[in-house]
Amino acid sequence: MSDSYKIIDHTYDVVIVGAGGAGLRATLGMAAAGLSTACVTKVFPTRSHTVAAQGGMSAALGNMGEDHWKWHMYDTVKGSDWLGDQDAIEYMCREAVPAVIELEHFGVPFSRTDEGKIYQRPFGGMTTNFGEGTAQRTCAAADRTGHAILHTLYQQSVKHKAEFYIEHFALDLLMDDGVCRGVMSLDLATGEMHRFRAHTVVLATGGCGRTYFSATSAHTCTGDGNAMVLRAGLPLQDMEFIQFHPTGIYGAGVLITEGVRGEGGYLTNAEGERFMERYAPNAKDLASRDVVSRSMTMEINAGRGVGKDSDHIHLNLMHLGAEVTEKRLPGISESARIFAGVDVNKEPIPVLPTVHYNMGGIPTNYRGEVVTLKDGDPECVVPGLMAIGEAACVSVHGANRLGSNSLLDIVVFGRAAALRAAELITPGDEHKPLPASSTDAVLSHFDSIRQANGETPTATLRDDMQRTMQKHAAVFRDGDSLNEGVDKMQKIYDRFADINVSDRTLIWNTDLVETLELENLLAQAQSIIHGAANRTESRGGHARDDFEERDDDNWMKHTVTWVDEQGKVDIDYRPVHMYTLTEETEVIPPKTRVY
Ligand code: FUM
Repeated sequence: MSDSYKIIDHTYDVVIVGAGGAGLRATLGMAAAGLSTACVTKVFPTRSHTVAAQGGMSAALGNMGEDHWKWHMYDTVKGSDWLGDQDAIEYMCREAVPAVIELEHFGVPFSRTDEGKIYQRPFGGMTTNFGEGTAQRTCAAADRTGHAILHTLYQQSVKHKAEFYIEHFALDLLMDDGVCRGVMSLDLATGEMHRFRAHTVVLATGGCGRTYFSATSAHTCTGDGNAMVLRAGLPLQDMEFIQFHPTGIYGAGVLITEGVRGEGGYLTNAEGERFMERYAPNAKDLASRDVVSRSMTMEINAGRGVGKDSDHIHLNLMHLGAEVTEKRLPGISESARIFAGVDVNKEPIPVLPTVHYNMGGIPTNYRGEVVTLKDGDPECVVPGLMAIGEAACVSVHGANRLGSNSLLDIVVFGRAAALRAAELITPGDEHKPLPASSTDAVLSHFDSIRQANGETPTATLRDDMQRTMQKHAAVFRDGDSLNEGVDKMQKIYDRFADINVSDRTLIWNTDLVETLELENLLAQAQSIIHGAANRTESRGGHARDDFEERDDDNWMKHTVTWVDEQGKVDIDYRPVHMYTLTEETEVIPPKTRVY
């Protein structure tokens, strides 16, 4: 099979797959440490999905009121509904402060207070003094924070002479007896195959929002790294936990930042009522996202939605005034005008909970090393493989992520992966020979899809998957609907064997790429829906009508799922880390959440 394709070989100390915030932070850190570093990316780096992150990055700087990283840690554990690993959460919240200062020094153009400090806004679930007050903890560059961070990290990576392979579609990991030795990619512009050998491959390939019909994620968010991990016989973790962002633009799915509510915006129903006051008397519109999304859905289900079909909710920011919207929220003002035809200074924005984030992903420790469950060891490190960012499940978000903890996660763990790689690898270390079978396995799999000659168009099958997931693994779930979804998804999965790729060329073949992406999405959809049907409790983003309570006795554990070639899902569990990393802080014991 290797003879059928032209292969260009490369050898690096490390290869990062993905050039969003996590990938670029790891890239610059590894290059700066003197490791020969390549970054392989499906899109031009500054078009990665991090560019769409709006509201900001959390860090207890205390620029706009008293704050402490331990309060941030408490909020994150509570927000995770006690499924987050507390050692990793401690690491993230403590490292947040130097991480933001480092970004500032790299050149991120943060918004400023009158005194010239980094501007910080309130965000959902972020409190002071262990839940007593509202924290202003989210560091913002207007409502284009991801854009600002991504451009700065790309500039820094180029400065440190990292090498970029842009518009390369990563096909599969090169595995040798349980060790990752590299990765193969298809250069979309030339149709050539590239074989990268590396001591460590870092997957920073983002989430799989496009398993669903309506998502704030870019169309490129197909979780390619997660699917590569599944094909390598390794598991994903906690995939049943999907975050619905309360304020996607109705009909378009485009994100309207939580920063709007942080600046004083609020939600109303058809009666003009600020209904969040009923559901979360303390936090109101700044309750965590799972709570706000469920409250909005309950209002709509009770017939109090707005619009001619009573099927969405209004987000009001008219009272904020043009000075605030122009200075702090220019991006969403533009999005509302383009995608909803609304002038935010005069009318409310029509919004609906929309798929936004995967809490689950590739299981890792807090250093970014991929772990698996092997011979009874739940912390078994997979040599040569790391994962960071939304692709990973480290797990700092547990069952529900707090807004603005994602930009933090990507920066802190991108840096952690670089530090770990610098410990493990000496620049220029020799590579072991790679068995031909590793390459052959990747190419024959690729070729079978390229030559697929069935009857089913890719777009049809993708649409069926997305609508099934949207209906059966939604904000509210129950056993009957989930089990129906499991059956439907298996039938959809089986139909991939009948897929049709009509264009067999290799240069800019979007038909082929979309089919490869669909295969990736299907495996993750299986993982999500099986995990959700299996977890008979409600926790964080997983809300079941038939099991309404959180069940710590039976379910305070991470789900790990393997998906085989037939779409069959195997499930096992890893323990939640109920321990901290240092003695500076104590474990936060589970309790009932009060909003
Ligand atoms: O609402 C937002 O600006 C999104 C932030 C996040 O997902 O962290």
